[in-house]
Amino acid sequence: MMKLPEQVRIVEVGPRDGLQNEKQVVPTEVKLELIGRLAACGLSSIEATAFVSPKWVPQMADAAQVMAGLEARPGLSYPVLVPNEKGLEAALKAGAREVAVFGAASEAFSQKNINCSIAESLARFRPVVARALAAGLTVRGYVSCVVGCPYQGEVAPEAVAQVAGALSEMGCYQVSLGDTIGVGTPARVLDMLEVVRRRVPVERLAGHFHDTYGMAIANIYASLQAGLSCFDSSVAGLGGCPYAAGASGNVATEDVVWLLAGLGIASGVDLDKLLETSAWISARLGREPNSRVARALLVKKSGPA
Ligand code: HMG
Ligand code: MG
Repeated sequence: MMKLPEQVRIVEVGPRDGLQNEKQVVPTEVKLELIGRLAACGLSSIEATAFVSPKWVPQMADAAQVMAGLEARPGLSYPVLVPNEKGLEAALKAGAREVAVFGAASEAFSQKNINCSIAESLARFRPVVARALAAGLTVRGYVSCVVGCPYQGEVAPEAVAQVAGALSEMGCYQVSLGDTIGVGTPARVLDMLEVVRRRVPVERLAGHFHDTYGMAIANIYASLQAGLSCFDSSVAGLGGCPYAAGASGNVATEDVVWLLAGLGIASGVDLDKLLETSAWISARLGREPNSRVARALLVKKSGPA
C-alpha cells in the first residue's frame, strides 16, 4: 500500500453541483450565506456558481449576483464553471479568479450536458483556457463519466485519459475526475486511475465522486492509496446532475472530513462548524443531511430522543 498523503485539499462544490440540481430555486442570499458559512468552516476552495445557459440550468441564473456578494478572504478561492467563451466573458466581468471547464469521457453525456461532441468541446475549451490563463486566472478541468455513463454504459479508462490529457495540456492545473452517476467501485476506479496517471501526473488529478451507490468514501480511500490528494465534495451531500437522471449528490463533505480525520490526514476543516452548516442548509431545503456522519453526530449532539 502506498503511503497516504499528510494533507488533503477539499474542493467544496455544494453551492454549485449541489444547488444546480435543486428543484426549488434557492435564493441568492441563501447561497451567499451558505458560502460564507462554508468559508468559516475552513474550506479554502468553494465552487460558487456556474456561468452556463440559464435555459439549461435555471438554478445558476444568478451567477453574477452570487459573485457580487462574495467576500474576498486571503487563501480562499471561488472557482466557477464556464462552458464556453460567453461563460468566460461573464465570469471575467464578475471578477472570477478561477474558472473550470467541463468535458466528458462519454460522447452521449457530452451531447446531453453541453450540446456538442467531445472533440468539439475540446476545441471550444482551448481558446477559453488560453484566454483565462492570459488574464491571470487559474483554470481547472473536469471530466465527467469517468467510470460509467447514464446513456452509454461503461466508459473505457483510455477515453478518460484522452480527455484528461487534453485538458491538462491546454493548461488546466488540475483535472477533476467525475464519477457523475456514482457507479464506480474501488477496483474500477483504481483501474481507471492506473491508465489516466500515465497521461496526467497523479499530483494534478482530483477525485469527484457522487454517492449514488454509497461507494464514494470507498472510492476516495482507494484514490488516496493511488496517490490522489484532492477531492470534491458537497456539504450535506447536496446535489446530483441535471443531465444524469437518478444520480444522487456528491459525497458529503462531512463524510470526507470524518474519513480523513480517522486516517490522521489534515483537511483544515472544522467538523463541528461543518455539521452546523449541514444542519442549517438541510433545514432551509426541508430535508435531512444526506450524510451518515452528519446524521449520527447531530443525533448525538441533540441527545437521545
Ligand atoms: P447551446 O444551446 O448549444 O449554446 O448550449 P449556444 O451557443 O447555441 O447558445 C444558445 C443560447 O444559450 C443563446 O441564447 C446563448 O446566448 C446562450 P439565446 O440566443 O437562445 O437567447 N448561452 C449562454 N448563456 C449564458 N451563459 C453561457 C451561455 N452560452 C450560451 N455560458 C451550453 C451550450 C454549453 C451553453 C449549454 O449546453 C449549457 O449551458 N450547458 C451547461 C450544462 C450544465 O451546467 N451542466 C451541469 C454542470 S456539469 C456537472 O455537473 C458535472 C460535474 O459536476 C462533474 C461530474 O459530476 O461529472 C462538473
Ligand atoms: Mg458533479
